[in-house]
Amino acid sequence: MPKRVVDPHSDMEEAPQEEVEIQSLRPRSLREYIGQAKAREHLQIVLEAARKRGEPLDHLLLYGPPGLGKTTLAQILGHEMGVGVKTTSGPVLERAGDLASILTSLEEGDILFIDEIHRMNRVVEEVMYPALEDFKIDILLGKGPAAQSIQIDLKRFTLVGATTRAGMISAPLRDRFGMMLRLEFYEPGELKTILKRSADILKVPLDDEGALEIARRSRGTPRIANRLLRRVRDFAQVRSDGRISRGVADQALGMLEVDSLGLDRPDRRYLEALIQKFGGGPVGLDNLSVSLNEEADTLEDVYEPYLIQIGFLVRTPQGRKATLAAYDHLKLRPKDPGGQGELL
Ligand code: ADE
Repeated sequence: MPKRVVDPHSDMEEAPQEEVEIQSLRPRSLREYIGQAKAREHLQIVLEAARKRGEPLDHLLLYGPPGLGKTTLAQILGHEMGVGVKTTSGPVLERAGDLASILTSLEEGDILFIDEIHRMNRVVEEVMYPALEDFKIDILLGKGPAAQSIQIDLKRFTLVGATTRAGMISAPLRDRFGMMLRLEFYEPGELKTILKRSADILKVPLDDEGALEIARRSRGTPRIANRLLRRVRDFAQVRSDGRISRGVADQALGMLEVDSLGLDRPDRRYLEALIQKFGGGPVGLDNLSVSLNEEADTLEDVYEPYLIQIGFLVRTPQGRKATLAAYDHLKLRPKDPGGQGELL
């Protein structure tokens, strides 16, 4: 189980039964995919063009906060093109040989999906360049003076890279993607539609208002929405008649300590530290990281994007600052310039 019910990261640590449910909720075609209108339109065009030419898709980089459907999109592209999808991740590819063995196993047109591609190491990355450009790799056999370099031809494949940090991709790698698509947080209306679809698949009675309540508290993230739906379903079955209305959703989410905007305790702790220990900022990421005992990367990838999205946090050249909206939400008020938040 993820540490936080609102953790946007992969559901991979869920129990096996939940894993089956999660898989069943994934859309398989672009038509079933809800939201991300811009990315979807773009993909529709490149899919059609590639199909018409009978060529593989151009290499594609998907970036944006976790949980917005990057893996799902890669699977959909595979399905739409009628090709296989192999999945790996940057940190898993430790040696050049790890990448070489995956690349040589790809069939014509296959998609190689690499999650967290910004964490791929230099050596592996260098094997990638000629693979992306010319569908060839150079492999060094043996060591020392007797070492021999051999070139291996690959089938034409498509790399779909995913990252939460487009800025951390090296320029040579970035330049080899034909397309970069940014995924955005979903609107509550879009999440509501996703939730209604999921409820149908899971055969959970969910009315419109119940769906909207869960949607509003899902941090713009389908993965979280679907997870909250499963938790609210449990609550509805045990404490009520199994139907999810707005009231049932509100009670269940209250019990899970997910507030009206989807913030949980760790988010509130982040904002309280920023306001009460650092006078609302500006404060540097490293200081916050030490103060909260959380890794800077986690603050930057998981906590901050949503707080920025809802206008509670701004990043300035001097550091992070809480906005008045954040003070209001926490019922704190700025004391005096540079002063500490005080309970209203
Ligand atoms: N489940 C997760 N993300 C989805 C999306 N964008 N559309 C439909 N169902 C989803």
